[in-house]
Amino acid sequence: MNFPIDLLRQEQTPFYFYDMELLGRTLDEIKASLPSEAYKVHYAMKANANPAILSAVRGAGLGVDAVSGGEIAAALEAGFEAGRIVFAGVGKTDAEIELALSAGIGCFNVESEAELEVISEIADRMGATANVAIRVNPNIDAHTHHYITTGLAENKFGINIELLDHVVDRCGELPAIKLVGLHFHIGSQITDNTPFGILCERINELQDSFESRGISFCSINVGGGLGIDYDNPDANPVPDFRSYFNTFAANLKLRPGQELHFELGRSIVAQCGSLITKVIYVKKGTEKQFAIVDAGMTDLIRPALYQAYHKIENITGTGKPEKYDVVGPICESSDVFEENAILAKVSRGDLLALRSAGAYGEIMASRYNLRKLPGSLCR
Ligand code: LLP
Repeated sequence: MNFPIDLLRQEQTPFYFYDMELLGRTLDEIKASLPSEAYKVHYAMKANANPAILSAVRGAGLGVDAVSGGEIAAALEAGFEAGRIVFAGVGKTDAEIELALSAGIGCFNVESEAELEVISEIADRMGATANVAIRVNPNIDAHTHHYITTGLAENKFGINIELLDHVVDRCGELPAIKLVGLHFHIGSQITDNTPFGILCERINELQDSFESRGISFCSINVGGGLGIDYDNPDANPVPDFRSYFNTFAANLKLRPGQELHFELGRSIVAQCGSLITKVIYVKKGTEKQFAIVDAGMTDLIRPALYQAYHKIENITGTGKPEKYDVVGPICESSDVFEENAILAKVSRGDLLALRSAGAYGEIMASRYNLRKLPGSLCR
């Protein structure tokens, strides 16, 4: 990526830099890759709710996948149509359900029978009907980091297949519930389409079995999870949406008139964002040298929390490459961005870019150590 160094130099570090041209290209590619009108993409705004990003995503005509009242409010504020918001989460509160119903969101992704009953009770009281999709736990191993695998049986997410018939029947008994679909999500940062193909087979079996009981669905929601190339952000700036969508087109038996919904987060926004940080000190140890930067795990927690890799570049240095441990200023030994990073010789004042940080970066920042939240710059 060609960073606008002069512009970056004027900003208070650390901050997130978003390449809006790349985001635009990514959104264009999504639209161009959709196999049919029946495919509907919702942006999983938990990945990044920066207003400029939301505005670009809305401009591209995507819907939203929200997981809290705060996200629903931010989506409405950004101009997304309420009917194109789906609302997920295992612990929706009464106040959030009320907000969602009064806004008229498109669908609740329901995760338990207890939740279904509460939604029905609240909707009934409000004189509304809630569209729901039942989140099924399909018990598929997505072969990703265990913190972000969500589709295995022992997870807290979704309803186990054995209990599904019962919950679907329950929808028919509750007064203010309209069952519109089934929802799935098997995990995140999935870079091989095989688990998605397996998901399709699982969905086909389920649909066949429900149809034999006379039950059909208007929509199937397969969640998100398409991964990105953290190792080579410049070689693969836009994920392979075509193969991803084609996996569904080839394997999922959509019924006539049925819609297929997606909730993509990371694949849309990760590559357009970089965390820009300034080197405060270069510290020589006995065997190592440390580049101590002004960003820490409070600005980008993924390395500390998931041992995630973000490629680091010295975007202002031109000297011969050397080895550094790139560390933040937080009083935690996990506040390390990368050990043994090879960077163009680092000097105090250099700017480093932590790449592929547009998803689950800025939004997961905290004020631990009473630090300021990172700013942002879009260009
Ligand atoms: N739908 C549901 C039900 C989800 O739980 C998630 C993400 C998504 C969609 C969007 O998934 P994506 O397309 O972004 O993979 N903080 C972690 C990732 C947590 C993902 C949580 N769920 C990270 O930094 O890797």
